[in-house]
Amino acid sequence: MEHKANTPLTDQFGRVHNYLRISLTERCNLRCTYCMPAEGIVLRPKAHFMKTDEVLSIAETFVRLGVTKIRLTGGEPLVRNDAKAVMQGLSKLPVELAISSNGVLVDQFIDTFKTCGIQSINISLDSLQENTFNDITRRSDFQKIKSNIDLLIQEKFHVKLNAVIIKGVNDQEIIDFINFTKHQNIHYRFIEFMPFNGNRWDWSKGLGYAEMLQTIETAFPGQVIKLQDKKNDTSKAFQIKGYQGTFAIISTVTNPFCDTCNRLRLTADGKIKNCLFSSGETDLLTALREGNNIEQIIRESVWHKKSVRGGMTHFDDFSNTELNQQNRNMISIGG
Ligand code: GTP
Ligand code: 5AD
Ligand code: SF4
Repeated sequence: MEHKANTPLTDQFGRVHNYLRISLTERCNLRCTYCMPAEGIVLRPKAHFMKTDEVLSIAETFVRLGVTKIRLTGGEPLVRNDAKAVMQGLSKLPVELAISSNGVLVDQFIDTFKTCGIQSINISLDSLQENTFNDITRRSDFQKIKSNIDLLIQEKFHVKLNAVIIKGVNDQEIIDFINFTKHQNIHYRFIEFMPFNGNRWDWSKGLGYAEMLQTIETAFPGQVIKLQDKKNDTSKAFQIKGYQGTFAIISTVTNPFCDTCNRLRLTADGKIKNCLFSSGETDLLTALREGNNIEQIIRESVWHKKSVRGGMTHFDDFSNTELNQQNRNMISIGG
């Protein structure tokens, strides 16, 4: 189908896409159990991945097509050797630039974040208990990450903390996470455990939106305030009366929010994924290297985006292992 130039990136359901998540690398310096397959992932040669100028060139095209926000993800985006150059290059584009990181290396990038205008930094903090955190991540960086989060707050960045809630692992910490926001301007988000290739997903390990909220309301009777969410938010936000910080729940499994989705993804190997759960991908990097115009390819991919979770409309589809395992593993999507 021929798509018109100078129109927003719209799909068949009328959703306009102005938010691009770019995965800079499939490598990571942590090994989170819910993200990485236990056996690790096979690392491919460098030539398969976008170089600095290729990231910038593809990003520039998306911005020309109406993207106004870019969030960098990974693996862990900051382990990439040229992370600084990529951020500097992207900061010249007329977009809001943000990053999701595991926090291990952020102290080395404070100046870069500032000069590149990066204000919104999302960090995973799946437990406030050192042992539990280190068990989840299969590494021992808890103290380093905690002090880096303090540093980000001190430096006045807008920090959101993410915790994927898994039964018997960290579900008993939800109230501690909320109390962590009592005297700090932090936004803590509790994420329903999602299925990806190789993460041994099984919903009996997950905790849903309703269950989380019930636990919270029981602990804080009459004190849970619902906050106004923004149009394209993936989370539903709340605050405990009198607390400085806020918290939210991301409910992809029990209450998908796809009708307001404005997101596209670019993988580190230069493929466009029109949904977090799309198993189909379109290769932009090869097209770029062959000197082709990638605009029509992008428009075509967006147009064919499925209405809900890459076509897994109902809970039963979503929990069908055959369907959800056709997607990549999370480390190579970047969230
Ligand atoms: P902002 O809204 O820009 O702050 O980013 P975010 O919260 O989407 O980004 P982050 O990287 O912190 O991801 C938090 C959680 O949201 C992760 O578990 C992501 O996988 C999930 N998430 C991000 N984008 C989407 C999406 O498009 N669909 C769904 N269902 N989940 C998403
Ligand atoms: N389910 C939900 N969230 C996940 N993330 C990684 N894997 C999963 C999963 N299986 C989250 C990370 C990080 C964000 C980018 O994606 O915790 O905060
Ligand atoms: Fe968008 Fe797909 Fe996420 Fe739904 S699951 S919000 S359509 S990326």
